[in-house]
Amino acid sequence: MMIWNKLLKEKKWHKFFEDPHPIVIPFAEKLNNNGKKSVVDIGCGIGRHCHLLKEYGFNVYGCDSSTFGVSFTKKRLGDKLSENIVETDMTELPWSNGCFDIGICINVIYHGTYENGFDCLFEIKRVLKKGAPLLLTFLSSKDPEYGNGNLIEPNTFVFAEGYEKGVIHHFYTKSEISSIATLFDNCSYYEKTFVRGPEAEEGIYWVLEGTKP
Ligand SMILES: C[S@@+](CC[C@H](N)C(=O)[O-])C[C@H]1O[C@@H](n2cnc3c(N)ncnc32)[C@H](O)[C@@H]1O
Repeated sequence: MMIWNKLLKEKKWHKFFEDPHPIVIPFAEKLNNNGKKSVVDIGCGIGRHCHLLKEYGFNVYGCDSSTFGVSFTKKRLGDKLSENIVETDMTELPWSNGCFDIGICINVIYHGTYENGFDCLFEIKRVLKKGAPLLLTFLSSKDPEYGNGNLIEPNTFVFAEGYEKGVIHHFYTKSEISSIATLFDNCSYYEKTFVRGPEAEEGIYWVLEGTKP
């Protein structure tokens, strides 16, 4: 995806993506890894979470639609894991059913229409093993950027200015998140403010954890 190739190459995004998202470390720590578990990172960007999860001893897989993101992540992970990182759309994962122990998708699903988001969720669900934990984030409809740019469907905007000009964002309402929660078992979700990008501005997100039914 050209727009993300351009964004991910920018130095300010590299700096922002140096540190893991604050929810990923506690999630990784409670997974009780025995050195054999596999984890898939959907929309891995330049690989900050793939790298972190590798350090925790997981067998890491990842994908992204950005050619640059995929090649950067491959280099970051080194030869042994490089073939596990693939270029693909979040709505068409190249792996077979039920092959991963854990799934994460951080700040990715909302970069599409509501339908794209559901297609991605069904794909994540498909590739996870029964009982696999997952960690997902979604942009909230309470986010301060809600309403900016061109409306292309309810709650979905293509930003018309700023460093994410041209990027699609779906802002999830509580009722949309509660529908998504029905796709998984043991679901819990909450809304929280996090730093959203390289200019240190804040965004409001949903964090959802659950397991594959
Ligand atoms: C905000 S970045 C987050 C990257 C990474 N998850 C992280 O937290 O560092 C969004 C990522 O989603 C990827 N992305 C956007 N739309 C996508 C799609 N349709 N399929 C796969 N990846 C996509 C972008 O290329 C980018 O790497």
